[in-house]
Amino acid sequence: VLPKHIAIIMDGNGRWAQAKARPRTFGHIKGARVAKSIITACAKKKIEYLTLYAFSTENWLRPANEVVFLMTLLRRYLKKETDTLVRQNIRFQVVGDMNRIPTDILKAIQYATEITKNNTGMTLVFALSYGARQELSLAVQKLAQQVQSGNLLPSEIDESLIQSNLQTYSMPDPDLIIRTSGEQRLSNFFLWQAAYSELYFTDTLWPDFKDFDLDLAIIDFLKRKRRFGKIEEIHENSAH
Ligand code: IPE
Ligand code: IPE
Ligand code: MG
Repeated sequence: VLPKHIAIIMDGNGRWAQAKARPRTFGHIKGARVAKSIITACAKKKIEYLTLYAFSTENWLRPANEVVFLMTLLRRYLKKETDTLVRQNIRFQVVGDMNRIPTDILKAIQYATEITKNNTGMTLVFALSYGARQELSLAVQKLAQQVQSGNLLPSEIDESLIQSNLQTYSMPDPDLIIRTSGEQRLSNFFLWQAAYSELYFTDTLWPDFKDFDLDLAIIDFLKRKRRFGKIEEIHENSAH
């Protein structure tokens, strides 16, 4: 069956531009265009959840001009594409530390989230200013507060309680995580949620990633045997 939730670590914009002797920003512009195309492709395939890792907590440490440019791209995307999301029946959400997002962008995010919240098609999640360790730290803080206020016993903290205190509480875990650009790491993305995700790495740089490359990733996923620690079910023939 098709993955219910696909998550993509969109990497390689800078190297793509560099290879063309252009500024890194040029790669980000092309990357944003590719993201648009992949969103539409996933919605057409009736993928239920698509998460795009667009900006990590560590990405704040990049030079200020690059950070500002990425925020500008995001602002532009939200302004131009919120209508498209409505039209495509896509439900828009974000995960990440919104405290660090510029106010006007945050407003645009809230607007896009609100106006699409009852859409019944694909859920599109932007991971923005997102770091899995930060998400987990916040979940631990919330649980500690409940313990301190006497509403929770430490022994009651289990996997489902931790899960329900993550920002992704309402989403299924990603079935397939794609990372472009040849790097084979998670870079602080979905550390908890990726426990049993299928990982797919491609050398293709994100600005070169085509709908066809998405098909290749999905075809590869369909060949995987997911065991979740168990052994494969043997369908015994009732002949004996
Ligand atoms: C991914 O491309 C986009 C973001 C992380 C925002 P990069 O900007 O990381 O490009 P490379 O990895 O330097 O080529
Ligand atoms: C991961 O890419 C973050 C996003 C794609 C948004 P990076 O380029 O930041 O990751 P590293 O630094 O190569 O691990
Ligand atoms: Mg990178």
